[in-house]
Amino acid sequence: MCRLFSPLKIKNMELKNRIVLPPMCMKMAEDGFVNDFHIIHYTARAIGQMGLIIVEAAAVMDNGQITKEDLGIWNDKFVPKLKELVDSVHAYDAKIGIQISHAGRKARDTNNMIAPSALSYGDYKTPREMTVKEIKEVVKAFGLAAKRAEEAGFDFLEIHAAHGYLINQFLSPISNERIDEYGGTFKNRKKILHEIVEEIRKYWPKEKPLGVRFSATEYEEKGLNLSDILAIIYCNEKDIDVINVTTGGITTATYETYPGYQLNYAKEIKNKTDKVIVAGGLITTSELAGMILNENIADLVYFGRLALKEPYFPLRFAKELAVDIKWPEFYERAK
Ligand SMILES: Cc1cc2nc3c(=O)[nH]c(=O)nc-3n(C[C@H](O)[C@H](O)[C@H](O)COP(=O)(O)O)c2cc1C
Repeated sequence: MCRLFSPLKIKNMELKNRIVLPPMCMKMAEDGFVNDFHIIHYTARAIGQMGLIIVEAAAVMDNGQITKEDLGIWNDKFVPKLKELVDSVHAYDAKIGIQISHAGRKARDTNNMIAPSALSYGDYKTPREMTVKEIKEVVKAFGLAAKRAEEAGFDFLEIHAAHGYLINQFLSPISNERIDEYGGTFKNRKKILHEIVEEIRKYWPKEKPLGVRFSATEYEEKGLNLSDILAIIYCNEKDIDVINVTTGGITTATYETYPGYQLNYAKEIKNKTDKVIVAGGLITTSELAGMILNENIADLVYFGRLALKEPYFPLRFAKELAVDIKWPEFYERAK
């Protein structure tokens, strides 16, 4: 029996299946606000029967958007539209999370680009090295973003610590050359994430699951590797529930991708922790998705680009796997 359509309870969040929409920036926001596009886009994937929808990276500070078309969560003014989005997805029986993020040296549209060290990403502008006071402000901003996510009614919260964005920039020796308490040693480099997790837990209810997205490898000899990521997970052991596994992004290094190219990292993290693991990367068939679960490589599978081109793919997957799932009533005649 394929477990793709089996339920999973993580803290108080009950998922009807193991199918996840990973966060994907749609570049459709104006001034950071959710608009009709976001409501249609995410609700369509809920109608398509994706069990958990993780809303794209939302910036915790106004200089933290990757580009100005990204969502914002740095101010209370964003809460009513975020709540509308949550209510719309809930109406179609899916759970919804949001990824909270700061782009740091990858914030392309700001005149106030900040980072742990004044080291640029590729040919981007050179960021300004953050003061300790600014680091503390970022930590607070993640906490307030969690408070707003809770007010909007999200079921799940994901901290973006991957793909070379601000938290990843602190974690990685490639982008962090500080000589104070937030840099230098590995212990110092992971301090900001630990503080962010603790700050978030002041606002994000303990019954609700909290996740972190990590790049399990940076595809760089001097970059973070799997054992570093495991050490970071152990350091935040008590407060995080879910690990969303991805790779790359701290430099412009290119790497080979193929269906399942990140699964070995997910499997290793699953073996060495008791966290709920979300894995993916070019997964486009029900067969491979089923294998990931049946072979205990991960607990949940994400489908990014497949969900962009085929929002109702879970209906097709269920048919292929001979699992009789409930279709949205209004589509029953197409079953
Ligand atoms: C258009 C687009 C936007 C993305 N935006 C984000 C993002 O906001 N946060 C994030 O962690 N990953 C982001 N990603 C990466 C995806 O979440 C996912 O890890 C990646 O697409 C690999 O999965 P796939 O092969 O199933 O598409 C984005 C990917 C795409 C294609």
